[in-house]
Amino acid sequence: RPDRIVFSGIQPTGELHLGNYLGAISNWVKLQNEARSNEQVLFSIVGWHALTLPQNPKDLSRSRADMLATLLAFGIDPKRSVVFYQEDNQCHTELSWILSCITPVGQLRRMTTWKSRLATKRNANSESEVDESILNAGLFTYPILQAADILAYRATHVPVGEDQTQHLELARNLADSFNRTFDPKKSFFPLPSQLITPHRRVLSLKDPSSKMSKSSPDVSSRISLTDTTSEIERKIRGAVTDSIQGITYDPVNRPGTSNLLSILAGSVDEDVEQVARRYEGKGHGDLKKDVVEALDGLLKTPRTEFERLRQDKGYLSAVAKEGAEKAKQRTSYTLQEVRRLVGL
Ligand code: ADP
Ligand code: NA
Repeated sequence: RPDRIVFSGIQPTGELHLGNYLGAISNWVKLQNEARSNEQVLFSIVGWHALTLPQNPKDLSRSRADMLATLLAFGIDPKRSVVFYQEDNQCHTELSWILSCITPVGQLRRMTTWKSRLATKRNANSESEVDESILNAGLFTYPILQAADILAYRATHVPVGEDQTQHLELARNLADSFNRTFDPKKSFFPLPSQLITPHRRVLSLKDPSSKMSKSSPDVSSRISLTDTTSEIERKIRGAVTDSIQGITYDPVNRPGTSNLLSILAGSVDEDVEQVARRYEGKGHGDLKKDVVEALDGLLKTPRTEFERLRQDKGYLSAVAKEGAEKAKQRTSYTLQEVRRLVGL
């Protein structure tokens, strides 16, 4: 058994942007490439999680294949990582049910993700009156499914952003609770720890007080991973900066300028302060020109590869099939033991 098992998941929704790459996918590629020999790295495209929000079935089906093509185009190598669709391995939902039977409802209610869902639906006039009837149960219980995603592989490390800390804590609690309740040796599930990866938060190009997101209606606020050179040029030229002379890295007072610096630093994988020092005495024009060049360099090969891969449906399904088989192999013993331990 590997001494370190890394698991991470990503939802197959919508078109991917630079924030997704610098904040998530680039870290995955690094984890894969730096994995030691006795280490296993698993990446899952988590379709069950996508269903917690309304989805158009045709779009979802396309997004799912596009997500796989994107991961491969950006360097996830199915020979080195186990890359698979969550819904192809039944162990996730089976374990999720078992874990849901030891999950305190109160802990789910305390999830900030759940609370913010309620808050957005809440009537502004009646703060205390929370209408849960309009939210589906999947939105309430998906942190259990997330715990199952991790624990099914008995993963030891999970690279996730800080917004996921509370969910990972639930996974640890459930692992611990299962161990104490059912395992005579009290150690069946390792308690997964959060792998802190350099988190590069990319901000909107139009409103640097918010993060770059697929949910913004203004497409010029984000760089899509499939943007052409001229689209990148147009969006970076239109990016909001400030009227202060010169370039300095100052995220609080100069969020737009600092965002461009950190996009540049992320694209060339350098420290942002170091990059900023090269712009002493230069202006926004110089910076923007270099950001365009760096982004185009970063995205050029992967976007061609992505377009090629998404046409090659046969290859994508072969990769998915192989990934699913490996994933199932790695969870079958765990689920067999879990069933035995609970007495079924
Ligand atoms: P979006 O916010 O566009 O809906 P998701 O929530 O689907 O994106 O996020 C998928 C992954 O990409 C997550 O790991 C998330 O932390 C990362 N991510 C999304 N937006 C950004 C961003 N602007 N900067 C850094 N990471 C991001
Ligand atoms: Na989001």
